[in-house]
Amino acid sequence: MTEQTFTPRVFSGIQPSGGLTLGNYLGAIKRFVDMQEAGTHETIYCMVDLHAITVWQNPGDLMRNTRELCAGFIASGIDPEKSVLINQSQVPEHAQLAWIFNCVARMGWMGRMTQWKDKSGANAEGSSLGLFAYPALMAADILIYHATHVPVGEDQKQHLELTRDIAAKFNHDYGVDFFPITEPVIEGAATRVMNLQDGTKKMSKSDPSEKTRINMTDDADTIAKKIKKAKTDPDPLPDTIDGLDGRPEARNLVNIWAGLTDETPQAVVEANAGKLFGYFKQDLAEIAVDKLAPIAGEMARLMEDQTEIDRILGRGAERAREIAAPILAETYKIVGLVKS
Ligand code: TRP
Repeated sequence: MTEQTFTPRVFSGIQPSGGLTLGNYLGAIKRFVDMQEAGTHETIYCMVDLHAITVWQNPGDLMRNTRELCAGFIASGIDPEKSVLINQSQVPEHAQLAWIFNCVARMGWMGRMTQWKDKSGANAEGSSLGLFAYPALMAADILIYHATHVPVGEDQKQHLELTRDIAAKFNHDYGVDFFPITEPVIEGAATRVMNLQDGTKKMSKSDPSEKTRINMTDDADTIAKKIKKAKTDPDPLPDTIDGLDGRPEARNLVNIWAGLTDETPQAVVEANAGKLFGYFKQDLAEIAVDKLAPIAGEMARLMEDQTEIDRILGRGAERAREIAAPILAETYKIVGLVKS
């Protein structure tokens, strides 16, 4: 068995299930852009529509949300020339490899996934088979490109461990060194964006209150208002981040500032020490509007030209298949599937 060396390659995906928030931007998309610009890895970014349909999606909404996510990627700085930007269902090799992984992964492994337990809840019997098999498709997304690094949020860590288990079991069962053992690149606490009205909860597109989140499609006025109305506490900013202990809302606003300006949270508190949150929020609103309003404007512009978005996705799928097809062909050969 020879040690294979793998091309440094990043893969990550976001579900087009609607409603991109500041959390998606700072926690995922902006990091994807940074990795693209670093130029140390090939970068592949994906709208995982096949994952989205593991729970019901209205077909018209799904199409719109997929194009909107694509617009969000591009408006945020993902360059379809520098990165491969794709829609999962347009690259059939994902689903083809997923079937093989369904036969490698064990029922017990899947049953232990906390996302499965949370999403199926008390109604496992009534959940789709796809929801149960979700992590095997995710492993296929990554391994069909022999991706070596995967930036994800903390909540996806378990799925990435499962991806490593699938790669290792495949390699072991077939006596090959074919799939890489992928490294997760987990988001730090500073990039996890919390609810603007309750700093102990994650910012979510599904919270019933609009005041709790900033949407990537919000205009300048809306962004400024939501930040100015964000919950805080009466104390001024401390001069070290330790002074944010037990103050989740204050910490969240500092983290958002740091995320938007590429500073450390410590640098943000030092520069604003002693300031009351009323003033801090005014300055933060200005920073957020400067950064986010142009992205929302560009998304709206792109959404008016659907043919251009579809052209970009078509081209992305072609480039993706150039990498994926030979890896799938080799996998088929290893497994013993006859191809003429
Ligand atoms: N499961 C991921 C999420 O919900 C989305 C996803 C699908 C993904 N396939 C992936 C992320 C591959 C990273 C790599 O956030």
